Amino acid sequence: MSDRNLDLFERAKQLIPGGVNSPVRAFRAVGGTPRFVQRAQGAYFWDANGQRYIDYIGSWGPMILGHGHPAVLEAVQKAATEGFSFGAPTEREVELAEEIVKLVPSLEMVRLVSSGTEAGMSTIRLARGATGRKTIIKFEGCYHGHADALLVKAGSGLATFGNPTSAGVPPEVVQHTLVLEYNNVAQIEAAFAEHGADIACVIIEPIAGNMNFVRASVPFVKRIRELCTQHSALFVFDEVMTGFRVGLGSAQGHYASLIPGFEPDMTVMGKVIGGGMPLAAFGGKRAVMEHLAPLGGVYQAGTLSGNPVATACGLATLKEIQKPGFFEALSATTRSLVDGLKAAADAEGVPFSVDCQGGMFGFFLMPELPQNYATVMKTEGAKFNALFHGLLDRGVYIAPALYEAGFVSAAHTADDIAATVAAAREVFASLR
Ligand SMILES: Cc1ncc(COP(=O)(O)O)c(C=O)c1O
Repeated sequence: MSDRNLDLFERAKQLIPGGVNSPVRAFRAVGGTPRFVQRAQGAYFWDANGQRYIDYIGSWGPMILGHGHPAVLEAVQKAATEGFSFGAPTEREVELAEEIVKLVPSLEMVRLVSSGTEAGMSTIRLARGATGRKTIIKFEGCYHGHADALLVKAGSGLATFGNPTSAGVPPEVVQHTLVLEYNNVAQIEAAFAEHGADIACVIIEPIAGNMNFVRASVPFVKRIRELCTQHSALFVFDEVMTGFRVGLGSAQGHYASLIPGFEPDMTVMGKVIGGGMPLAAFGGKRAVMEHLAPLGGVYQAGTLSGNPVATACGLATLKEIQKPGFFEALSATTRSLVDGLKAAADAEGVPFSVDCQGGMFGFFLMPELPQNYATVMKTEGAKFNALFHGLLDRGVYIAPALYEAGFVSAAHTADDIAATVAAAREVFASLR
């Protein structure tokens, strides 16, 4: 039988570098042929061969309601008939901004953009413009989009500036980016002691989903908050992945429940706020946001920003997730998945650890949850790849790389979870 996925991949590779429009889709880490998606509905998608998969990627986070939710579909169809793009303001942009600001107390103003990368890049520029400082701090294993200044890994020593992780980024472009170890309080204290007066912002994934799933510890978040306040630097929560995904108050709501009064100064949003359409946002306090053009001197713009179809999709999605009990049910489903996977791994004697928050989860083929990137990367790649392909062969689609988080949607049923756990147990048995 011909393999349509393979045929499409071969065609794609002739015209698109690596055959994909975003690298992780190429299956380079796990090997094999990427699945070309034909259509999706609820918790499932079907590939080009007509094979069905239970989808735990959900477009890397946005599809919190599952695919093709009727209310979202209706909103998008209606918006599309009214016009695709105007390059002029619309009521829906105001409504979406109102909705986001209502749900996230640290936000007084937001600017809508089209991708998380754009939102992260603009946030850094704004933080530098508002503070008049150059230095930014990020953490190893956190991804904030592919803006030049953020494609950087740690330098050779503590509190030294980083090196580019991509060709095409001159070292001069990252010379003001300091990369520190996640969850390392001593390092951030040393960095502020040495560079405090130059630090524009500290940007963090509060629950990092780009090194699988690693939480920032409460003492770590608390200490960064104190240091930023003390040195007048801005604390930026990159909630592109966690925003409206780990709870209605996002990750900052979760940390505020553990650290009374906690708020970041700025927030980057994406994924869920667009419901699967190209939409992202960044925001913060009025005094900072008013540095943005046309009010202030920090330039930022976009032809498709606040797109009317994307805002309709985002608004309809945000409406659904505010229904009573939504996050309780989603969290229970995610919890049942990770508990089931853990029990299956234990039964088969496979070292395994799990964590989750709201509709986001991670699992590790190691007995203890890692606290930083270096530990995450100790995972045995070959074992992960065998697990990935074993699940894929059984119709379960997880991220094709061990450093990615997983996502559960409101459309996943108890039967889907049971089928996933049963498939995993079979694969675990072969991993021993
Ligand atoms: C935390 C985080 N920030 C920023 C981005 C970049 O977003 P985008 O892919 O929409 O450019 C991502 C993408 O996965 C992300 O996970």
